[in-house]
Amino acid sequence: MVKIAVLASGSGSNALKLFRYFENSRLARVEMIVTNNPKAGVIDRFQGIKTTILVFNPSTDSSQTLEALNSRVDVLLLAGYMRLIPKDWTNIFHNRILNIHPALLPKHGGKGMYGKRVHKAVSESGDVESGITVHMVNERYDEGAIIAQFKVQIEPGEAPGLIEQKVRSLEKEHYAPTAAQWIMGLTSSL
Ligand code: GAR
Repeated sequence: MVKIAVLASGSGSNALKLFRYFENSRLARVEMIVTNNPKAGVIDRFQGIKTTILVFNPSTDSSQTLEALNSRVDVLLLAGYMRLIPKDWTNIFHNRILNIHPALLPKHGGKGMYGKRVHKAVSESGDVESGITVHMVNERYDEGAIIAQFKVQIEPGEAPGLIEQKVRSLEKEHYAPTAAQWIMGLTSSL
């Protein structure tokens, strides 16, 4: 059984979807939820759900958290995690960290491009499609190898809120099964 930690900084809707998806899986299970934000909605969302929630401060507890993760889980799934993953983390979890980005990388990615900011940038760009990118994580924002992309049509200049709705529905449909496929491919090397 592959053990997963889900890292989230926000409302945690993707984190919960991942948790539920793997609840009945024989391949993997979500062992813990990790957040850098003591006020994150993800903490409330998991109230009453039997799992470990770890709140940490990336500026002071990074290496201790890395040690805890390394002893307890095999892979990290980022789900709205807004901090850069440091180099010692990507070394230890080499090729074992996956992220979901709410646009079609390499467009609309990089530092500061997260959540609603991404949808605003897509809207202002006049693009006629957006979507999600599931990619591996290295020590640079949004630059790891792309595992899968899923697209949705949009109108040029479509309202960011509408783009977000479409993208969020792609996330809920595709992140967990894509992560499961990827984990399946990893199991020989774990
Ligand atoms: C999701 O849309 C996710 O793709 C995005 O943050 C949102 C988190 O929502 N991630 C990024 O922008 C990463 N650069 P959630 O907290 O409801 O899952």
